[in-house]
Amino acid sequence: MSFMNWLDNRFPATKVTREHITEYYAPKNFNFWYFFGSLAMVVLALQIVTGVLLAMNYKPDAGLAFDSVEYIMRDVWGGWFVRYVHSTGASMFFVVIYLHMFRGLLYGSYRNPRELLWIFGVIIYLAMMATAFFGYLLPWGQMSFWGAQVIVNLFETLPFVGGVLSEWIRGDYVISDITLNRFYAFHYLLPFILVGLVFLHIVSLHKVGSNNPDGVEIKKGPKGNRWNEEAPKDGIPFHPYYTVKDLLGTVVFLAVFFGIVFFVPEMGGYFIERPNFEPANPLKTPEHIAPVWYFTPYYAILRAVPSFAGTQVWGVLAMFASIAVLFFLPWLDRSPVKSIRYKGPITKLALMVFVVVFIVLGWLGTQPPTTDLTIMAQFFTLVYLLFFLLFPCFSSGGEKLGIGGKLLLLVSVLLLLGTLFYWWFGWSGGPASSLKLVYTLLSVGVLLIFGVVPAYIRPDSVKPVPERVTS
Ligand code: HEM
Repeated sequence: MSFMNWLDNRFPATKVTREHITEYYAPKNFNFWYFFGSLAMVVLALQIVTGVLLAMNYKPDAGLAFDSVEYIMRDVWGGWFVRYVHSTGASMFFVVIYLHMFRGLLYGSYRNPRELLWIFGVIIYLAMMATAFFGYLLPWGQMSFWGAQVIVNLFETLPFVGGVLSEWIRGDYVISDITLNRFYAFHYLLPFILVGLVFLHIVSLHKVGSNNPDGVEIKKGPKGNRWNEEAPKDGIPFHPYYTVKDLLGTVVFLAVFFGIVFFVPEMGGYFIERPNFEPANPLKTPEHIAPVWYFTPYYAILRAVPSFAGTQVWGVLAMFASIAVLFFLPWLDRSPVKSIRYKGPITKLALMVFVVVFIVLGWLGTQPPTTDLTIMAQFFTLVYLLFFLLFPCFSSGGEKLGIGGKLLLLVSVLLLLGTLFYWWFGWSGGPASSLKLVYTLLSVGVLLIFGVVPAYIRPDSVKPVPERVTS
């Protein structure tokens, strides 16, 4: 009896390999955007390996942490390399995931039957953010300390429980050695939870099969493909076709990745912020506190929303809402087609606007908040939220707006009116009237073009979808 027979009688090794690799039929038309799932796995593996190596010399103690990182950088053999791979990996993980999520938006990969796959994705995204946040405190630099201070203080704005909650998170009245210890524990734990979540993500992907750039399912057609009578038409086995394709993507990606590690590991202060080369000093607040770039869009949203009725909780709520709204995307998209290839011009424009909004918010989050930049951030926060609230309107493709869609349109109108009221009457010493006028006209334009026009005047047209996937 061969070893494989012996193993298969005790563990479904061949069965699982067949079902998930050699006989997992994926659409034949995957393009560039389909590299990022496997790249995310590569980066996750890199982070775990380098993280464990760093842990061998890192000391989670407020008195020793900063110096232990310096020791890793200067004295541990290859330590600088391991640390730079880990710090570059953190940022590149988010680059890869943002592109991976954008692919989902492009091709409607979150739509039925892939809602749960998408939801697992959003949970992964949240877990990634938590991991990055906990990890950022560990080098115990100025930005580590003050960044954590700002974020934990957010919880203080919650009514009634805020004070107790933020103290409970820190384990102390200020960010301290106790906080560092528990953040280290969570930072070590979460990547393994991420592995479990990625497992669930892939299991649900393989249950329903992959989407593709045409957004047309391949699991139909009576004839099968040339490998198997029962297999889906237009599907090709994952191995060798996509193992080879993903390998190419991985090689190109790693070339870029190590280019960064060797030549620009700090990336001009974006991957490692400059104040973090100074040890944490609770008595000296840095001139300008900003989180790492992958959090800055949400930081801009947080700062944009003014305090109201004596509390600052609204900014915190807007920030959490802007992430939580992703969970509902599968039900906000009412389009009869999945892929952007067959959607109408208004939907295409909305997606382009969203990308610009996300990037501009990211930039705004790195800047000191002047009056002019604050009104800009408020406008872009409004458009970010309108993009999701108006999704049923511009994506409906001719179908009448349901009660849910109408309700969201009403919320959009109220949100816009509230913002305009604040700009014109509630902001003493605010920006010049000419600037307010520009943002007022732009905001009304956004509501009309993406909400009222497609819902009530002329629906966004969709193109006929081919029956089989194209190239
Ligand atoms: C550690 C993070 C993640 C890993 C390792 C991962 C891995 C993968 C892999 C390997 C695939 C199949 C190949 C591909 O389509 O590229 C995939 C598909 C998918 N992922 Fe992720 N993913 C991660 C995070 C996310 C996040 C944050 C989201 C969304 C919020 C997401 C949404 C999706 C969707 C919708 C698909 C199906 C795409 C399609 O069939 O068109 N994933 N993921």
